[in-house]
Amino acid sequence: MLKLEKISKSFNGTKVLKDISTTFPENKTTVILGPSGSGKSTLLRSLNFLEHPESGIYDFDDTKIDLSKPLTDKMILDIRKKTEMVFQGYNLFPHLTVKKNVMEGPVQVLKKGKDEAEQEAIELLDKVGLKDKADSYPSELSGGQSQRVAIARSLAMHPEYIFLDEPTSALDPELELEVLKVLMKIAEEEQSMIIVTHNLAFARQVANKVLFIEDGSVLFDGPVEDFFNSDNERINGFVNAMTFNDIE
Ligand SMILES: Nc1ncnc2c1ncn2[C@@H]1O[C@H](COP(=O)(O)OP(=O)(O)O)[C@@H](O)[C@H]1O
Ligand SMILES: [Mg+2]
Repeated sequence: MLKLEKISKSFNGTKVLKDISTTFPENKTTVILGPSGSGKSTLLRSLNFLEHPESGIYDFDDTKIDLSKPLTDKMILDIRKKTEMVFQGYNLFPHLTVKKNVMEGPVQVLKKGKDEAEQEAIELLDKVGLKDKADSYPSELSGGQSQRVAIARSLAMHPEYIFLDEPTSALDPELELEVLKVLMKIAEEEQSMIIVTHNLAFARQVANKVLFIEDGSVLFDGPVEDFFNSDNERINGFVNAMTFNDIE
């Protein structure tokens, strides 16, 4: 289980994460919501040490790391082995086929045999609906297809958690839907995930837990239905604005 205790992060003397304490339950999907600039990406990036918060305790499976001290390469490597980050821009290797993109990490990092890695890559591509694209190159794929390959690639590493930062924000609605359906399937299989999204309908369907942050602070931390049924004025304002409920 991944837990944070009083995490703070500043950029140029301005605090963008303020004493964030929360837990990200295993085998569940946590969705991080909040207005633009509230610190969602910084929080997600802090979870695999792409950012280094200046204070707080980072606790993964009861190994506590005091963030006010320097991080060692070993600490960073251990966390990166247990987590995978899916970026908005896919980051596929352009010179490798789709299948080879999925096999690359298992073969190079996990030292899996090629045949085994290939077989699993095909299974994962099937799971994300892209078995027929196994021998295509990334340049031949749509954005939605690319993102599904990126998701298959992250699954191939068998991480404890997958982190996704607005995985569909660069996609047209139809392509977005393909990706969201894949994520819902993975969530049903109880892969632990932490997803930053602006899509509240998706959040409501996929999430077990919501973390709502504004201005670097946690405003809500609890079950998804409690978030959508909240009588907190600020939360209602956010939900209404995001779902256009306030349009007359
Ligand atoms: N590398 C950086 N250097 C300076 N300021 C940053 C950097 N990254 C983010 N910020 C600032 O931190 C705040 C939170 O940003 P971010 O985490 O990207 O928010 P969100 O993902 O919720 O839109 C913003 O004010 C942003 O401008
Ligand atoms: Mg962001």
